[in-house]
Amino acid sequence: MLSEQEIQQFRRDLLDWFDRYRRDLPWRRTRDPYAIWISEIMLQQTRVAAVTPFYERFLKRFPDFQILAEAPEPELLSSWAGLGYYHRARNLQRAAIQMRDRGAFPHTYHEIRALPGIGEYTAAAVASIAFGLPHAAVDGNVSRVASRIFNDETDIASAAGRKHFQVLADRLLDRLRPGAFNQAMMELGATACLPKKPRCLVCPISQICESRKKATQEQRPMKKAGAKNVQEERVVFWIAEGGRILAWRRPADSRLMPGFWELPEPSQLPSASVGQRLGAFRHGITFHNYRFELHEAAAPRDLGPCEWVAMDALATMPVSTVLRKARRVVEKTRSATVRSSTASV
Ligand code: ADE
Repeated sequence: MLSEQEIQQFRRDLLDWFDRYRRDLPWRRTRDPYAIWISEIMLQQTRVAAVTPFYERFLKRFPDFQILAEAPEPELLSSWAGLGYYHRARNLQRAAIQMRDRGAFPHTYHEIRALPGIGEYTAAAVASIAFGLPHAAVDGNVSRVASRIFNDETDIASAAGRKHFQVLADRLLDRLRPGAFNQAMMELGATACLPKKPRCLVCPISQICESRKKATQEQRPMKKAGAKNVQEERVVFWIAEGGRILAWRRPADSRLMPGFWELPEPSQLPSASVGQRLGAFRHGITFHNYRFELHEAAAPRDLGPCEWVAMDALATMPVSTVLRKARRVVEKTRSATVRSSTASV
């Protein structure tokens, strides 16, 4: 167990390191609770590098909660397209409507926690970063860091484990600078205390890290064999004619991405005859890792659930990431074909 003195030293070393080396991320240049909240929602299931351009574009388009509350849904969803997990965008708007009705952004932990789409982690992150409130934000990354600092064998995937690491992180938290402290823990987990190969040589707190002393870093955190990722192969059709493609729209009450346009699969167009393979791409959704094979097909007489959609209109429609990735594959294949045919002339 670390002494109170060691914990104080830990806070000093971690915050000095963070002040000196922190990444210059756009949401770290603002104190606006609205902007901080948007960044934390985007960062819930999406990596920092992927979030950055979306964050800036989104804030230009929806600079405050009043404007977000009034946004037409298709526009909101198309601004979110590419980030995935679209329920986040819908919850943002529900929360923005509550703020507009109340006339202010909530400023206590419990009010923030009560907003749609906000769990304990995000509530703690927003409360600490935007308002300086002393709540430790604990996710899988922070639990990993804590499990190594204390060389703690508790299973981080269990419900009891999550509570336990919340208690440890609350003990570590710097109550004078809780926002910087939480971000420093996230930063440490993202850049030094990595899941597979921790970079202890660049870690600012390796001196007091219990699992570094015992050389158990690579066995922490303990995680019971849990749900494994499921690998799945899918085929989707690219059926294009005269600047239009065949696509279908998810129903408005679909649990997954309601109202979004998708490419058809063979089961939806059983009479389509499969043509040339155009390529393949991967796409991950929660625990599923999909590999999509993209094939041309001739338009069947029976279009099933599909409609012809003008390719030019896709830019302003809610389009699934699968459709967008497929389009990129087609464009790449086409430009490669043009290059090789001009090269051989
Ligand atoms: N992940 C979640 N919140 C974050 C933040 N504020 N900065 C960097 N990564 C994060």
